[in-house]
Amino acid sequence: MKHSWTDPWEPAERRRYVIPATETAASAALDIAWVRSQFPALAQTVSGHPAVFFDGPGGTQVPQRVIDAISDYLRRDNANTDGAYSTSRRTNAMLASARAAMADFLNCSADEIVFGQNMTALTYAMSRAIGRDLGPGDEILVTRLDHDANVSPWLALEEKGVMIRWAEIHADDCTLDVEDLAEKLNSKTRLVAIGYASNAVGTINPVKEIVRVAHSFGALAYVDAVHYAPHGLIDVAALDCDFLVCSTYKFYGPHMGVLYGKREHLARLRPYKVRPLTEAVPLRWEWGTLNHECIAGITACVDYITDLGRRNHSEAATRRAAIISAFESIHRHEHLLMNRLIAGLSEIPQLKIYGITDPSCFAWRCPTLALRVVNQAADQTPLALATKLGDRGIFTWDGNYYALNLTERLDVEKSGGFLRIGPVHYNTVEEVDRLLGVLREIVGA
Ligand SMILES: Cc1ncc(COP(=O)(O)O)c(C=O)c1O
Repeated sequence: MKHSWTDPWEPAERRRYVIPATETAASAALDIAWVRSQFPALAQTVSGHPAVFFDGPGGTQVPQRVIDAISDYLRRDNANTDGAYSTSRRTNAMLASARAAMADFLNCSADEIVFGQNMTALTYAMSRAIGRDLGPGDEILVTRLDHDANVSPWLALEEKGVMIRWAEIHADDCTLDVEDLAEKLNSKTRLVAIGYASNAVGTINPVKEIVRVAHSFGALAYVDAVHYAPHGLIDVAALDCDFLVCSTYKFYGPHMGVLYGKREHLARLRPYKVRPLTEAVPLRWEWGTLNHECIAGITACVDYITDLGRRNHSEAATRRAAIISAFESIHRHEHLLMNRLIAGLSEIPQLKIYGITDPSCFAWRCPTLALRVVNQAADQTPLALATKLGDRGIFTWDGNYYALNLTERLDVEKSGGFLRIGPVHYNTVEEVDRLLGVLREIVGA
């Protein structure tokens, strides 16, 4: 039976797309001066130029309170867990607080939060456990748009006889071909691995819809929200996804990964683990001694986002309500930057932007941009552009940023991939204008 599916990418549907309530223009403006005052790294200079951090998709800067929380933990509470003395008890309490903070961030229960080294390691671990019960006759669906961390761990299950199927993209605007995706689902599909947003071209996928369709075939939905997390509110309850992974270093926290898993899955699936480790959920998924100081920093990172929300919405009754408010103002500010950036880049004829450029579809993208010089000369490769920008204190990225299937599909891999410009909420309109001016100079516009 062919599954019924409405393509949310069909042009008419795009225009009818209603911006979610949490992302309306009614949200208060971001207090950018306060925001920037929180991040000490933003005051750096490079050869006399103020540093401009457009490298957010590779990792964001951290507020002072995150730095303080990490060093305070090491100074006062440094211990292993479950000991019969004060610093160990405080460490247990600190871990519980961080779990509760991330549960509010993602809208789930604290016992559905698993900490790990990073998203990649957590995904390899979970894919091993899910793969235990899979073999010939089972299928997993991945996409061409995804970061390889949500592809290779599933590809590795081919050695067990699992078939991997690929959802393709629309090459013209780098959106997911959801019709193709739907056609590749069937009664053998066990899991759909999907990105929330592309770390290369900024496309936001219709994740809720994809989860719904995956479930209708009895498949699990595994969502990589690493790139989406700094830009938009995540609500795992509303998405109804089975798993969602993110990395706190991409949203103003320390270098750590976080996995949400529905409690039933965290209890039912069997992790590979050492025997003395408890079977309690979620601890059975956390291997060895965790990076406690960084986990202390995660609570501070969520506190920062909460405070940002309370500045606009002082009566927010709960931490979750304040987080929702924070993402309203983050969204508003980032869209201001994105509109200006894309309008300015579109006026430079030497440049080609990859991804959505039609402003009426901007609800389907975050401000992350990939571009190249058309007919690039040897000194205009993405690496050459990033180097010239970097010399002027403007930090961007070049290459494939592990979105390897996308750069191969668009045939840019062999010629250096893309230049990626990745604004986040602490960037300013002035920084966008400075970037545009320097880029014009570099490409001779
Ligand atoms: C979309 C996306 N997924 C996954 C990852 C991998 O995250 P981690 O470094 O936490 O393993 C990244 C890192 O850049 C990413 O951008």
